Amino acid sequence: MLRIEPTGQILGAAISGVDLRADLPPGAFGAILRALGDYGVLRFPGQFLEAADLRRFSARFGQIQVLKGVRHHEPAMPEVTILSNVRVNGDLIGAPDAGQSWHTDMTYSTTKGFVNVLSAFQVPMRDGRPVGSTEFTNTQAAAADLPPAMLARLDGLTATHDLEMYWEYMRREKGSARPPMTPEMRAQRPPVHHPVLMTHPITGRKVLYVNPGFTACIDGLPEAESRALLTELLDHVMQPKYRYVHEWAVGDLLLWDNLGSWHFARPDYGPDEPRLMKRCQVMADRIFDPAFVQAALAA
Ligand SMILES: [Fe+2]
Repeated sequence: MLRIEPTGQILGAAISGVDLRADLPPGAFGAILRALGDYGVLRFPGQFLEAADLRRFSARFGQIQVLKGVRHHEPAMPEVTILSNVRVNGDLIGAPDAGQSWHTDMTYSTTKGFVNVLSAFQVPMRDGRPVGSTEFTNTQAAAADLPPAMLARLDGLTATHDLEMYWEYMRREKGSARPPMTPEMRAQRPPVHHPVLMTHPITGRKVLYVNPGFTACIDGLPEAESRALLTELLDHVMQPKYRYVHEWAVGDLLLWDNLGSWHFARPDYGPDEPRLMKRCQVMADRIFDPAFVQAALAA
């Protein structure tokens, strides 16, 4: 029997009473999808979901993104990325610096990112507390609090999202060892445009769909005006009242809704404090189809 326990905070719920390795009982997938829209970040404790089961469960939400040129993935499973600072024979087994500044996954893509699914195998601990936590903000709640004049101003506006902006930030500010994007990578990932206000496909609520990682400017405005408006919106979302911190436990399966949140992986642990996660990134290729949502909520 599926049990959903909200954290009572701005995001987050824990779900128990379900084995994600097995076929889900009737009604379970719909309940999970509904909870994902309502609570944004879902923790399934004690799942220890291995790569094949992680991929199978993730694929129910949409197409799993395969990131070209990413070396760190499960053997023979490019859909399952390994996020880790662990070294074997001197070589990193995963991407060590993933997500270490505020962003929303895949907004730089024509097809947006929908849901991230992470399975935790090693979690660094210090003084009895987990480190390497993941922070989130709730961009549905942030949109709901915008004054009517701002909502009217944003109506019809689009923003430019650019992967290279984030890539260069990680190299410049975070000491990332990643090389510059090649011309081929840039050609594959040209800047894209998305409405600033989006309707969430599960909840029907408005979402403020800009983020510090990938949003370069508000389209059609003079540069100074675009910069001022974007800064105002980002500062609004960044307020502590919209934030939630997930402290990891080994065995957690964490599911989060990229359409209604930002996230940030706290880099507060060292190379000798092992962290190992396996991840699937699912695209929003089906979730904006009302027929898919209707069928999924009933499944
Ligand atoms: Fe991310």
